[in-house]
Amino acid sequence: MCNILPVDNQTITQNITAVTVNPFAGQRPGTSGLRKKTREFMQPGYLEAFVQSAFNALRGSVSGDFSKSTLVVGGDGRYYNKEAIQKILHIAIGNEFGRVMVARGGLLSTPAMSAVIRRRKAFGGLVLSASHNPGGIEADFGIKYNVSNGGPAPEDVTERIYEFTQRINHYYWFTCNDIDIRQEGKQTYADTEVEIFDPLADYTVLMSELFDFDALREFFRGGFRMIFDGMHGSTGPYAAHILEQQLGAPKGTVLNGIPLEDFAGKHPDPNLVYAADLVRRMQASDAPDLGAANDADGDRNMILGRNVFISPGDSLAVIAEHAARYIPGYRNGLAGIARSMPTSTAADRVAKSLSIPIYETPTGWKYFGNLMDADLCTVCGEESFGTGSNHIREKDGFWAVLCWLSILCGTRKSVAEVMSAHWERFGRSYFQRHDYEGLDLSAATQMSEELRPSLPALTGKDFGASRIAAADDFTYTDPVDHSVTPRAGIRLALEDGSRVVCRLSGTGTQGATLRVYLERFSRQYDQDSSRMLAPLAGSVRQLLRLKERFHREDPDVIT
Ligand code: G1P
Ligand code: ZN
Repeated sequence: MCNILPVDNQTITQNITAVTVNPFAGQRPGTSGLRKKTREFMQPGYLEAFVQSAFNALRGSVSGDFSKSTLVVGGDGRYYNKEAIQKILHIAIGNEFGRVMVARGGLLSTPAMSAVIRRRKAFGGLVLSASHNPGGIEADFGIKYNVSNGGPAPEDVTERIYEFTQRINHYYWFTCNDIDIRQEGKQTYADTEVEIFDPLADYTVLMSELFDFDALREFFRGGFRMIFDGMHGSTGPYAAHILEQQLGAPKGTVLNGIPLEDFAGKHPDPNLVYAADLVRRMQASDAPDLGAANDADGDRNMILGRNVFISPGDSLAVIAEHAARYIPGYRNGLAGIARSMPTSTAADRVAKSLSIPIYETPTGWKYFGNLMDADLCTVCGEESFGTGSNHIREKDGFWAVLCWLSILCGTRKSVAEVMSAHWERFGRSYFQRHDYEGLDLSAATQMSEELRPSLPALTGKDFGASRIAAADDFTYTDPVDHSVTPRAGIRLALEDGSRVVCRLSGTGTQGATLRVYLERFSRQYDQDSSRMLAPLAGSVRQLLRLKERFHREDPDVIT
C-alpha cells in the first residue's frame, strides 16, 4: 500500500505528511471503544481521523512528545484487522512514537493486550475488536484505546478523544510500503522503532505465575478431560499453547482454534445460544469434565460441566469462594469483590462470608479499574460472561477457565458437585438476562424517559410473586475518584429479595437493545431457572408495555 498523497497536503519531514481530513459524525467511544459497521470504518479517512484524534487527545499527557512512549497494537483477527493495523502503524510513525509494538500477525487478545501494556510499561494500546459481535465486511468492527494501567480509557479520556474527532482537519502519515508483521523482529522507520512481538509470551508467563502449572499438568496426566471452544477468535492460539503444549492436555482439547476473519460466519459470543455446539458436546454421554469458550477478543468466558451451565454470577462467586485455597496467585486472600449492578448478588454472600467488601458498579469493565488500582478489590465480574482479577485491567476469559480448572483440580469434585456445594452453603440466585434486540431507538429512549419519573410511585406495588420495595435509576459514585455516573440502569428491588434491572445496551451498532435482568434468591437450588423467574418476566413485560411499544413480547436472546 503506497500512499498517494493529495497535492494540498503538507510535507512535514521527508516521509511524514499532514493529510487533510474532515471530521466524521458519531465517533464517540461507547462502553468499549468505538464500534461500528465494518463498512463505516472502511470509509476513506474514517479510521485515520479517529486514531489521530486519539493521539491528539493523548499528546497533552506527554507534553506533546511521544518519543519516549510505547504504543501496543493488535486485534482479534476480524475482517479489516490487518488493514487497520497498517494504517495505525503509518499514523503512529507519523506522530513520532518512540516505539510501536505490534503483535505478530496482528493477533492479540484483549487480556493479552492488557498484560503486555503492564509488563512492558507501555504508554497505551489500540485494540481492534468488536468483541463478541460478528466479523466481516457486512458485520462489525471496533477500536478501543487502553491506557498505561492496561485498562480501557476512562470516560474523561474518551470524551477528550471525541472532542478532537469533531474538529480534526488533518492526520500525520508516514509514507512507506506495508510493514511486514508476520515475523518477530525490530525495524526503525523515521524516529520510531517498530517491534513485532510474540503475542503468547507475556500472557503465558503471567498465567504461570498465578496458577500452579505443575499441579494442572499432573491433573491432565491423571485423565482429566476438557474442551475449549476458541470460536475462531483470537484465543485459540493461547488455549492451544497453554492447555495442549504447556499443560499436556490431549490434542483436540481446543476446538475452533484457528482464528478466522469472519469467525466462520458465526457469532463469536460464548453463551448458550451462540456456543450451541459446545453445549451439545457437554450434554453427550461421553462429555468431558469441563467445557469452556471465549469470545473473539478473549475477554468473555462461558463455563460448562457435564450437563451443567454455570451462570456468570455463580462463576464469580465460586471463583471468589475458592481462590485463596486453590490458586497460588491469590493465596493471601482477596481484598474485595466487585460486580456490575445487574450481575446477581451471589458474590455478595461470598464476600460477606470472607468478611471482605463487595462493590456494585455500572455496566462496563472500566469501573473496576479504579477499584483494582486502589487495591480495593481483587476479583470482579459481570453477568455478561466477564470475569477477571487485578492481574490485568480487562476481564480475562482464559483466566476464568484456568480458575475453574484449578478449583476442579484442588477439590477433585466435578463442576456439578462444586456448584451444589456452593448453593448448599450460600443458597442460589436464579438469574436470567432477556435481550430485546433491534428496537426502534427513539421508542426505546422514550420508554426510559417515561419510566424514570414513575419509579418512586412503584414502591408497594405488586410485582411477580412479591411487591416492590424500592425502585430507582442507579447512580454510581466512584469510591476512589468520587466521579458520579448517573442513569446506569433502572432497578426494582422486591420485598422477597428478588431484583429486576432494565437498561439499554451501550455496545449495539443498530437500533436499541433492551436488556432485562431477572434475579430471584432461594435456598432450594434444584429448580428450573425459567420457571422460577417466569412471574418476574411477566410483570416486567407489563411494566414496560413491550407489546404496545415494540410489538414484541418474547426476548431475542435469553442468557
Ligand atoms: C455489554 C455487557 C457489558 C460489557 C460490555 C462489553 O454491554 O452487557 O457487561 O461490559 O458489553 O463487553 P452493553 O451492551 O450491555 O452496554
Ligand atoms: Zn470481548
